[in-house]
Amino acid sequence: MNLLIVFGTTEGQTRKIAERVATDVRGRGHQVELLDSAEFTSDLKLGHFDAFVIAGSVHQEHHQEAITNFVFAHHELLSTKPSALISVSLSAALKGHEADAQKYVDRFVSVTGWQPRMTLLLGGALRFTKYDYFQEQFVRFVVMKGGDPNPERDYEFTDWNALADFTDRFLETIG
Ligand SMILES: Cc1cc2nc3c(=O)[nH]c(=O)nc-3n(C[C@H](O)[C@H](O)[C@H](O)COP(=O)(O)O)c2cc1C
Repeated sequence: MNLLIVFGTTEGQTRKIAERVATDVRGRGHQVELLDSAEFTSDLKLGHFDAFVIAGSVHQEHHQEAITNFVFAHHELLSTKPSALISVSLSAALKGHEADAQKYVDRFVSVTGWQPRMTLLLGGALRFTKYDYFQEQFVRFVVMKGGDPNPERDYEFTDWNALADFTDRFLETIG
């Protein structure tokens, strides 16, 4: 089986997640290509792939424009093949914020017209040591709704075991 993983990332956590999926899928004996949606060119023949994983992260309540445009442009093909969505956000990892994480996905599905076979809401990371003032304020007061993380350090919320389980279950649906 030949699987394409297309990811959108702003600070790098979703690239790390996409790379982990690629490693796991290769470990199961399949071929994998990894593509940053920001670098997509029409030379890539999507019809050659048997299955797709789309991974994007959320900023200011939206997934990256590049991943949204990619999926919108190819939603008919994606819908004819096994395909899965990994939506990376802070809300996915915060207790009581799950409805927000689901809302981002509902919006993505409605805007792109693509209905993934499986969806994973996955926690991302916070890089307070790298954020500018606006980014830090947005994360602390809008996304965390006033929660009080220590902005001196970074946090990784990604549940790598949940990701591995998801990858296994997706591969099982393909057979
Ligand atoms: C400026 C900014 C805005 C963000 N907005 C949201 C948001 O609206 N909802 C949310 O759940 N997470 C939000 N996040 C958290 C990101 O989804 C999280 O940091 C994720 O790991 C980023 O993935 P990436 O490194 O692949 O871009 C935001 C992060 C930043 C820096």
